[in-house]
Amino acid sequence: MPRRRTRALAVAFLLAMVVSEESVAREGRTAASSAPGPGESLYMRYCASCHGIDGRGDGTVASVLRTPPPDLTRLTYGEGEIIKQIDGRRTIRAHGTPAMPVWGEVFEESLVEEPHRRRTTLQRVQALADYVLRMRAPPAESSPSPGR
Ligand code: HEC
Repeated sequence: MPRRRTRALAVAFLLAMVVSEESVAREGRTAASSAPGPGESLYMRYCASCHGIDGRGDGTVASVLRTPPPDLTRLTYGEGEIIKQIDGRRTIRAHGTPAMPVWGEVFEESLVEEPHRRRTTLQRVQALADYVLRMRAPPAESSPSPGR
């Protein structure tokens, strides 16, 4: 079925990114203790290519995707749901398409050598959700300049 094929593609696509996984794991572990958290670096590495640096759905890869990545600054639901959407293992996404990798699975599979991979996966998804949530509220002067 197409779902499986798309998933295989997504996995192949991701393998390239996951090669540098170990450095993220290390970053994540050290950054986790300091305030800003690893959400931003994880986002830039895994998400910005599709969703765009500012989360507006204008990443470099976006134009070649059949399902355009949604604008993450316009999500109306809360953090719990964002976590589920990112993790992807317990939810059917908005349009029921597998257009976005199931990150819960991707992270966990990439951490097979890790003793705490389930927890690390949760922490990553949580950090990402925090970051996505923060992208939503632009600072006071939200000028509608589409050129950005
Ligand atoms: C390969 C491109 C791609 C990458 C990489 C990607 N996404 Fe997505 N994302 C999508 C697409 C396409 C959708 C819409 C999926 C659907 O509707 O089935 C989506 C949906 C979402 C949603 C749900 C939005 C909604 O409208 O409810 C969230 C939240 C999200 N992505 C966050 C992330 C985060 C966080 C990352 C990085 C870990 C990420 N995405 C990486 C393409 C991508």
